[in-house]
Amino acid sequence: MSDKPHLNPHIAAAPVYTAGTSVEEVAARYGLTDVIKMASNENALGPSPKAVEAIASALTALNFYPRVTDDKLRERLAAHVGAGMTPDNFVTSNGGSEMLAMIAMGFLEEGEEAIFCPPTFLLYEIQVRRRGGQPVKVDLTPEYRYDVDAILDAVTPSTRLIYICSPNNPTGTIITQEEADRLMAGVPDHVVVVFDEAYIEFVDHDDHVDSLKYVRDGRHVIVVRTFSKIYGLAGLRVGYAIAPPELAQYLWRCRQPFHLSTLAMTGAMAALEDREHVARTRAIVIEGRKWLHHQLAEMGLDPVPSQSNFIVFRPGYSPQQVYERLLQRGVVVRPAGPFYMPEHVRVTVGTPEQNERFIAALREVLAEMEELGESGQKAEEGTLTL
Ligand SMILES: Cc1ncc(COP(=O)(O)O)c(C=O)c1O
Repeated sequence: MSDKPHLNPHIAAAPVYTAGTSVEEVAARYGLTDVIKMASNENALGPSPKAVEAIASALTALNFYPRVTDDKLRERLAAHVGAGMTPDNFVTSNGGSEMLAMIAMGFLEEGEEAIFCPPTFLLYEIQVRRRGGQPVKVDLTPEYRYDVDAILDAVTPSTRLIYICSPNNPTGTIITQEEADRLMAGVPDHVVVVFDEAYIEFVDHDDHVDSLKYVRDGRHVIVVRTFSKIYGLAGLRVGYAIAPPELAQYLWRCRQPFHLSTLAMTGAMAALEDREHVARTRAIVIEGRKWLHHQLAEMGLDPVPSQSNFIVFRPGYSPQQVYERLLQRGVVVRPAGPFYMPEHVRVTVGTPEQNERFIAALREVLAEMEELGESGQKAEEGTLTL
């Protein structure tokens, strides 16, 4: 019995994804009743009401396996996305996260290279390392833009994947059509380019890349999207990829059978029809990020102009301590260290009331930290790291 099981060293050594702190944890730790979560880029308006209604009415069909439902969801997605796409261009997944795992499983073998561009979403590195792949990091420029020439220079015969996150988490910056065209013109055909568009519905910039053009042209691209953000269904776990049919068919082989529940797919289909909820969400995010940006800029905290439903800023003090002091005031944000920005904090755009409460709490916290001196040492006492 003393023999240990053999662990896959790549999985054992890969970084672990830690989620944003939950409302329940903070409420219990601090005895608070009114906690707001602005940490995980969720939808402050809640789930799509149409999705909730449809899920409730699907409960009686739970005795059936959900295969046909996936066909229907892909049909609805094709109709919704338009742009010349057919159901054969779509593969569904348990959130965008599972799609990122499926992509790494399908396209990356031990020792092969994958390029991504910090600061960005941690899941790319996690998936690459789990596969025993070689992460190749090409930093964003100081303005948090993609450095297309540096990415192309980093491509080798062993490169399998390039991840482009637009809008990028945590900076909220985008890749433009011109930049993406330049990238695609230089990328050799043995490389698959992954456009992670989890936040695309929040973009109001005309220059954002139309990645579906590359799908139509049969280029080796996979576009990843999710129901977790604009549709408010992060807890339901539905994501999908759009790719040329040959790539989509191959990705399909990386799925588990019956990978999405009937409830998840039914809810997702109803959410696609909920135009009102989408429009309201988009409106409060675009207004809210403008307001938050202005406030943070006035406070001298260097907010990065965002095209998404979050903003990253530099508080000038330890992000961990700012986070903890905000927690004590019932406001949950996210230190951006795990996203390769150790000096920054990321806040999700909330309702106007939540945004105001966050700014008021942040002003208090920063004043307190100034009083304590640069290190904020006294803050250590009685605080906790969740
Ligand atoms: C850039 C990016 N891609 C993908 C995801 C995956 O989201 P989900 O698995 O909830 O669809 C997230 C979630 O935060 C994200 O920020």
